[in-house]
Amino acid sequence: MSIELGTHVVAADAADIAGAARCLEAGGLAAFPTETVYGLGADAGNGEAVARLYAAKGRPAFNPLIAHVAGLAAAHRVGRFNPEAERLAAAFWPGPLTLVLPKEPDCGVSDLALAGLDSVAIRVPAHPVAQALLSAFGRPVVAPSANRSGHVSPTSAAHALGDLRGRIDLVVDGGPCIVGVESTIVSCLDAPALLRPGGLPREDIERVLGRPLTFAAVPDADAPIAPGMLSSHYAPKADLRLNAEAPRVGEALLAFGEAPAHSGATLNLSRRRDLVEAAANLFSHLRALDASGARHIAVMTIPHEGLGEAINDRLARAAAPKPEVRK
Ligand code: TXA
Ligand code: MG
Repeated sequence: MSIELGTHVVAADAADIAGAARCLEAGGLAAFPTETVYGLGADAGNGEAVARLYAAKGRPAFNPLIAHVAGLAAAHRVGRFNPEAERLAAAFWPGPLTLVLPKEPDCGVSDLALAGLDSVAIRVPAHPVAQALLSAFGRPVVAPSANRSGHVSPTSAAHALGDLRGRIDLVVDGGPCIVGVESTIVSCLDAPALLRPGGLPREDIERVLGRPLTFAAVPDADAPIAPGMLSSHYAPKADLRLNAEAPRVGEALLAFGEAPAHSGATLNLSRRRDLVEAAANLFSHLRALDASGARHIAVMTIPHEGLGEAINDRLARAAAPKPEVRK
C-alpha cells in the first residue's frame, strides 16, 4: 500500500468544518465554498501560512488578499468604516461585496497578506459553509480564488481539487457556487470607487449610496501587474540596492542567509535561507528598516526559485524609481 501525500476532500458537515478550522489554526491551507467562487483559505494572521498560500497558487507576485470574516462585528476589528462603508455593509453583507478600508492597527492580517498596504479588503461571505467555517475559526481568513495562477476561478470542489491537488491540505466540498464570479470590490478610502466588477451589480450599490461609483480598476490578482501599477503597492521611503554582496557605510542591511558583519541596522529575511520564512518577513522587515530612519537599504541576493520569484518581483518594484518623486 502506498501512502499518498494528498489533499483530503471532506463533506461540509459540522465535524468536517471543525476539522477545517483546526487545519487553518495549524497553519494549513483549506479550500472552501463561498457563494462567489471557492476560496483557498489560510489564517490571515500567520505570515508563513500566507506565504505557503501564494506558493500553492503559483502567484507571480504578492497581490493583496481579501480578509474574510463571519460578520460586521468582526469586520469592525479589521477595517475602519466611514458612513458610506457602513451603509454598504448593512445593505449587502453577508454577500458578494468586498470593501477596501483603512486597516485598523491590530487588524489581525499579516503584512504579507496586505502586500504592505495600509488598506485592507474585507468580505463577509453568505455561503453557509463559509459562515460556519469563519465562525468556528473566529479570526480573519484570507482567501483568494482556489485556482492555480492564470487559471479560471473554481466554482466547484472538483475545480479546486483539479488545480490544487497535492498542494493544499483540504477541500471542503459544499457543492457548486451560486454566484460563480468573484465579489464586487468597492474602495471606501475616498469617494467610493469600483475596483472590480463582480457578483453584486454596480447599480445596486449606486442605489444604496445615492451616487455613482467612480471606476478605478485593480489588476486581476492572477495577472502580472504592469509596471505602472507600482504606486498601488508598498514602496519603502529608503532606496533599495538589490543583489548586494555586502552593505556599505550608511546603508541598512536586509539580509538573507549568512549576514556579513555590519554596524548599521540589520534584519534577516531568513537565516536558514527558507523562502517561505523570507516571504512572510518581507513586508514587515522593509517597514521596520524604513522606520529605523535608514535612507539606503542593501538587499542581499535572493534565489529566483519557488517563492523567490515573487520576492524578487516585489523587491524590484520596491526598488524602482518612485513616480511621485520624479523631478
Ligand atoms: O469572491 C471573491 O472575492 C473571492 C472569494 C474566495 O471570496 N476571492 C477573490 O480573491 O476573488 P482574489 O485574491 O482572487 O482577488 C482579490 C482582489 C485582487 O484583485 C486584489 O488586488 C484586490 O482584491 N485587493 C485586495 N486587497 C486590496 C486593497 N487593499 N486595495 C485594493 N485592492 C485590493
Ligand atoms: Mg482570483
